[in-house]
Parts: sequence; C-alpha cells; structure tokens
Amino acid sequence: MLSYRHGFHAGNFADVFKHFLLTYLLKQLKQNKPFSFIDPFAAAGKYSLKDPFMEKNKEYLNGIYKVLSSKINDPFIQDYLDLVSQTNPNKHGNKLSIYPGSCFLSLLALDSEDKIYLSELHNNEFEILKNNFSQDKRVTIEKKDAYASLDQMITSYQGTRLVLIDPSYEVKNEYEKVAKLIRHNSKQFPNVCYMVWYPVLESEKTDRFVNQLLNAKINNTTHIHIELNNSFLRMQGTGFFIINAPINMKRDVSNGLDILLEILKDPIQAAKINYNVF
Ligand SMILES: C[S@@+](CC[C@H](N)C(=O)[O-])C[C@H]1O[C@@H](n2cnc3c(N)ncnc32)[C@H](O)[C@@H]1O
Repeated sequence: MLSYRHGFHAGNFADVFKHFLLTYLLKQLKQNKPFSFIDPFAAAGKYSLKDPFMEKNKEYLNGIYKVLSSKINDPFIQDYLDLVSQTNPNKHGNKLSIYPGSCFLSLLALDSEDKIYLSELHNNEFEILKNNFSQDKRVTIEKKDAYASLDQMITSYQGTRLVLIDPSYEVKNEYEKVAKLIRHNSKQFPNVCYMVWYPVLESEKTDRFVNQLLNAKINNTTHIHIELNNSFLRMQGTGFFIINAPINMKRDVSNGLDILLEILKDPIQAAKINYNVF
C-alpha cells in the first residue's frame, strides 16, 4: 500500500533541482521529433499552496520561494522559472498559488505534436492526476505499476524518449528495484534518455544505491550528487543519474546548479555538487 503524497514536499529544494534539470532535458530533447515524455511515477501533477499537504510543512519556503526571491541571471534557470510563472498567471510578486509538478512542467514545455505518458499507482493521486490532465490531447494517463510496465510504456512510443524515474522510495528494497529497472531498461532500450532521482539520506542506503548504479557501468551516464546538509531535514541532499544526456548538458547546466546550491544551502554548513560523466 502506497502512502506517500508529493504535496507534502512539492517545491522543496529537491524539486527545484529536479525540475530545473527536467526543464532543460525537455527543451533540448524535444528538438528531435517525434518526442515523448514518459513519467511513470507522476503523482498529482500540480499542487495548490492552499492544499493541507502543502500547508503542513511548507517545504516550498526553503525551495522555490528562496529562488523566486533571488536575483538570478542564468538562461536555463530562467526557462524553469518561466514555466513556474506560466503556472501562476495571476502571480503577485513572488507569491505562488500553484507549484507545478513534473507533469505540468512537461505540458507547458512541450509542443502540440509531442506526447506525454503519465502513470500513478496511488488511488487518490491517480484521481487528481486524471482530473488535472485528461483533457489534454497529448496526454495518456494510466494506473499502472511502473516497475512492471516500463518496457511496455517505452515501446508504445517512437523516436526520442525521455523517461523520468522519480519514485517515492517507500517500499522495501525500492533502491534495489530502481537499480534493477535502470540496468534492464538501459540494455533493452539503449537510446532512451533516463533521468533517475534519488534522495541523499544520512544512511548507507544512499551509498549502496549510488554504487550499484555506478558499478552497472551503463554507457553515457551523468551522475550529479548534491549535498546541502540542511540539518533540519532527513534529506541532506539530492542526486540524479541521467543516461544519454544531451552532449552539452554539463556546459549548459553547471552554472545554474552552482547558483541554486548557493541559494538553497544552509548558509553556515558546507555544501557541494559532484558532477561526473562516465
Ligand atoms: C516523488 S512522487 C513523483 C513526483 C513527480 N514526478 C514530480 O516531480 O512532480 C512519486 C510518485 O510515484 C508513485 N508511485 C510509487 N510507486 C509506484 C509504482 N510502482 N508505479 C507507479 N507509481 C508509483 C507514488 O504514489 C508517488 O505519487
């Protein structure tokens, strides 16, 4: 039984890094048509700041709100912030009413001929997802287990495909399941671009997971590992494996990552980004 609700965390520092990189990948990869975005761990897709989940911890205050109140001059961060603004057409100053999840960002970033596949297993999140997105003709929404169905999801689309692997890591052995999924799918569909998100926890689980994916020696792997040491949160940072990233990605996003780290880190704690391409 799944219990995770992304609304508790939407717009937090991890979402900011994830959605900054996702915006970059969507905009770059959609240039090669036909293009499809596959988001098998979709959650609800967009989040009202008035929602009780969002109200509870207000994690966005240490995430997107810090970014919105900073002066930033980076074109790739601007692309992401433009999508956040488009989600909030009546925005007053830096105050948002809605934070866009990965699904809504993709709707805004993609073109009319692109395709979007969303799946979600949690009953309530699935119903909200359907209400939010089923009217868009580009979108297909299903209630499927991503681990059992990813092969089928990928084969349903042609051309350039970006798959976001963004699970809740709430099930026993989920890190192992993700590592196995990526090992299998990158062999089966070696030309697909995969973006895998993971939390950096004060736990050996993170190291074991990172080592599993590094030891898999998958061609053209970008590994971005960010430690912020925000001591009040269990999550001390955030990380990504991106397989088949666009060739100029490191050149394009490094400045933006550094800017975001400076804004989002605890001012008195050490913080770092390790960016490696294998
Ligand atoms: C971290 S959230 C996704 C957030 C979203 N990608 C974003 O950036 O806005 C993970 C979601 O995956 C769902 N989920 C977990 N296991 C799943 C599975 N096996 N198949 C499909 N969805 C699953 C959870 O219910 C949760 O809503």
